[in-house]
Amino acid sequence: MSIRTLDDLLAEGVSGRRVLVRADLNVPLDKQSGAITDDGRIRAVLPTLSALTGAGAKVTVCSHLGRPKGAPDPQFSLRPVADRLGELLGAPVHFATDTVGESARSTVDGLADGEVALLENLRFNAGETSKDEAERGAFADQLAVFGEAYVDDAFGAVHRKHASVYDVAARLPHFAGRLVLREVEVLSTLTGEPERPYVVVLGGSKVSDKLAVIEALLPTVDRLLIGGGMCFTFLKAQGLEVGTSLLEEEMVETCRNLMERAPGKIMLPVDVVAADAFAPDAAHDTVRADGIPSHRLGLDIGPETVAGFAAALKGARTIFWNGPMGVFEMAPFAHGTRGVAEAIAGSGAFTVVGGGDSAAAVRALGLDESSFGHISTGGGASLEYLEGKALPGIAALEN
Ligand code: 3PG
Ligand code: MG
Repeated sequence: MSIRTLDDLLAEGVSGRRVLVRADLNVPLDKQSGAITDDGRIRAVLPTLSALTGAGAKVTVCSHLGRPKGAPDPQFSLRPVADRLGELLGAPVHFATDTVGESARSTVDGLADGEVALLENLRFNAGETSKDEAERGAFADQLAVFGEAYVDDAFGAVHRKHASVYDVAARLPHFAGRLVLREVEVLSTLTGEPERPYVVVLGGSKVSDKLAVIEALLPTVDRLLIGGGMCFTFLKAQGLEVGTSLLEEEMVETCRNLMERAPGKIMLPVDVVAADAFAPDAAHDTVRADGIPSHRLGLDIGPETVAGFAAALKGARTIFWNGPMGVFEMAPFAHGTRGVAEAIAGSGAFTVVGGGDSAAAVRALGLDESSFGHISTGGGASLEYLEGKALPGIAALEN
């Protein structure tokens, strides 16, 4: 790999120079209050930002938040993120109320050496995510004006071929930030020669989202443990009835094939917590996986499954975990995710927590982050990396 890094940029000297940093500050917000519920992604980019400000750069940070539809939408404003970023950096962050307009230009122009600006949500501009190269390129041209150099530290977005991730890199001298480097370094050990046994735990709601990574991992892993909403399609493929649980009928045959292809490798729940409704106060019981009542839906894996998964994790030397085991946001259905997370943390293996929901679960459940080897900031990005796909954001840095 011929990627130039932040250290290369610092060695050139950045004092008084304008540096554009793409970060992934797409943090979860509380639906009612709009408050940031997990600032892990903001913290993760601090080493890169501090190195730049410490060296006297004029730093302009850009990011997306949520999925607005190419036009300003106040519920997706990055302003609360600017405030939080300022608190964490210990210095105010100048906030531009647009992305490439008058506010952005004057905010960037007003930066003193060592100061930081954050632009408003990139996805308020249709050019950011456009499939049309020219439209994306035109937006990238406007963004590129804000830097003499470009640093990509948005690992969570490197799988997106978006203007700020892909096209800007072609317009400016480009460098990988500390977070991007660390993520790639860790994940490459998993695609290289991981120490065995190598056990992967997958959860989350949809098989269809995870199919490609299951296909890629199945030949390499020693054990694949499956929980979360996606386990019900696998249970159905085993011939079990799953009541009103989440089910992807069109994936049942695929799941059956996967299990036949690697006999004994895939471990499924033997018991589940089944509830009357998708609600924290719904009536619920632990039932056998082959005895889910027809009117109930599974919202978590059961205690016997947790014990079985923990036993499988105990002797592992390498573990990758992506996706919660149940609806951990609701206390009655958080035990599975907590139990499996604790088993992973206590395993003695080199452990990698992949991305968005599982990383948020670790922090929401109050688990000690330092008991995991690496907590990735990329959900989709880490999965696509493990699939062996070329990631546009990484490819752009290599050129
Ligand atoms: C994420 O949270 O998955 C990343 O920030 C990318 O966001 P996206 O899935 O909306 O592109
Ligand atoms: Mg995503």
